[in-house]
Amino acid sequence: MNKKWWKESVVYQIYPISFLDTNGDGIGDMRGIIAKLDYLKELGIDVIWICPVYKSPNHDNGYDISDYQDIMKEFGTMDDFDQLLWEAHRRGLKIMMDLVLNHTSDEHPWFIESRASKDNPKRDYYIWRKGKNGGPPNNWESYFSGSVWQYDETTDEYYLHLYSKHQPDLNWENPNVIGSMHEMVEWWLKKGVDGFRFDAIAHIAKAAGLPDGANPNHLPTVRAYDLFSNLENVHTLLNNLYEQVLFHYDIMTVGETSGLGPEQALSYVGDTRNELNMVFQFEHMQLDAASGGSGKWNIRPWNLLELKKVMTAWQVDLHDKGWNANYWCNHDQPRCVSRFGDDKKYRVESAKMLATFMHMLEGTPYIYQGEEIGMTNIAFQSIDDYRDVETLNFYEEQMNKGVPEDKIMEVIWKKSRDNARTPMQWDKSEEAGFSKGRSWIQVNSNYPMINVEDALKDPDSIYYYYKKLIALRKEHEVIVYGKYELLLPEDPEIYMYTRTLGDVRLLVILNFFGGEPELELPQGMNPNPRELLISNYPVKGDEDLTRTLRLRPYESRVYKLQA
Ligand code: GLC
Ligand code: CA
Repeated sequence: MNKKWWKESVVYQIYPISFLDTNGDGIGDMRGIIAKLDYLKELGIDVIWICPVYKSPNHDNGYDISDYQDIMKEFGTMDDFDQLLWEAHRRGLKIMMDLVLNHTSDEHPWFIESRASKDNPKRDYYIWRKGKNGGPPNNWESYFSGSVWQYDETTDEYYLHLYSKHQPDLNWENPNVIGSMHEMVEWWLKKGVDGFRFDAIAHIAKAAGLPDGANPNHLPTVRAYDLFSNLENVHTLLNNLYEQVLFHYDIMTVGETSGLGPEQALSYVGDTRNELNMVFQFEHMQLDAASGGSGKWNIRPWNLLELKKVMTAWQVDLHDKGWNANYWCNHDQPRCVSRFGDDKKYRVESAKMLATFMHMLEGTPYIYQGEEIGMTNIAFQSIDDYRDVETLNFYEEQMNKGVPEDKIMEVIWKKSRDNARTPMQWDKSEEAGFSKGRSWIQVNSNYPMINVEDALKDPDSIYYYYKKLIALRKEHEVIVYGKYELLLPEDPEIYMYTRTLGDVRLLVILNFFGGEPELELPQGMNPNPRELLISNYPVKGDEDLTRTLRLRPYESRVYKLQA
């Protein structure tokens, strides 16, 4: 058992633009984060992951960086950042930066130079190619719809962008790019930041010669995808970054790596690899998407047996070899209570059940802002109210294809990234207490019912349940280091597993739906009713647990047993 502080930590993710606005311009800011540090400390979290705050023209809310060593003016100044770091550290909280190494903004001075002429010294900082047969150099499709290639008149060539055309990919085959990046990462480490989330890191290497994908007509989820994801060279580059820079600091790192399973993930996070501490995997995020077609937008219902299969593989394969990053929600995903729970009748119960599941797994749990009060998806009636570049591009592409608008909107309501990006709901005042002005994106109209102010007044709130889950992690080592074992693999409604460390065992019982299934506890697993660690319903202290249990809708319980 290889103990590390980042294994014992809980991470809270902040999407600054939607967290708290302190100057009334409708945009969340650095001072807003500082103002809520006590709130986060009270919740019990250890690390704050802040989505990009660097200088940016904001085509993709900061994921298009135009200066890695400056702060977006809407968010504040470098002095504000330094103060945030200081105020966080003073409270024993760590700060993890979100760093985009795969691409920059098209307004980054490197790109402005790069596009100026073919012989500019920065030309080779990006990926430029001549067109082929009057079209783009290959058939790869962008994550944000359309070709990955953008034609540029000045030099009559195309540049590559896996995301929006305002996010040109850097050329990591250029040693100068590598050198610049290492220097920049070190600069932040010297400032005292405690870690990095490396955005889109799986894509920094591309297949030699940039060949066509086998099947052009899909988003990069199937084969073209393999030509720019998780290639061997990504590991070489990360290993260099680790040995030359990261290794010298006691930090935590997590990489965003779509398109891989646990076996492949070990090549990033295996204890002997010297690359990353953990990665965000996407397999459970894809359970409600049909493969092929238009990728994530091609919706199908998810089912519990598949969730068990996916999560169990990650738990088992990484145990004692690497480490998991566990999450339900982030700024790119719909709200988890709307997606995997019931955001109407059983919003509170299902939010708590989902939290129990994630926090009791082996791995570091990540909480996304608003998750701790059970914030839900949004369904704006008009596309004009959406802000996300991915959503807007999808809408336009589908409209051009002649898909009826109501069909498009239905999908957008389920999957748009803006579901997670509506402002944090602090209280019942106008704009949910997020801003004194008009928010950059509309607040969810359910804020009078779902907000932090009310949550803090109600001892049964989702907030206090999260607080308790986090506190339990600090009390019971088994929650951090215990070995996972799945029970009832075939049960379609109940997810039950154990975690074992030495002679301590946890029994985690989760009813994933609104029914009331009966549960017979397996032989040798009859808990002492007084050893209940947490539950989302009242449970009698003298309940007879030798008999069949009838679970209530979305009920979750965690018991401590002797192994
Ligand atoms: C990652 C980020 C996402 C961003 C994209 C491009 O997937 O999480 O928000 O749009 O990278 O940087
Ligand atoms: Ca502001």
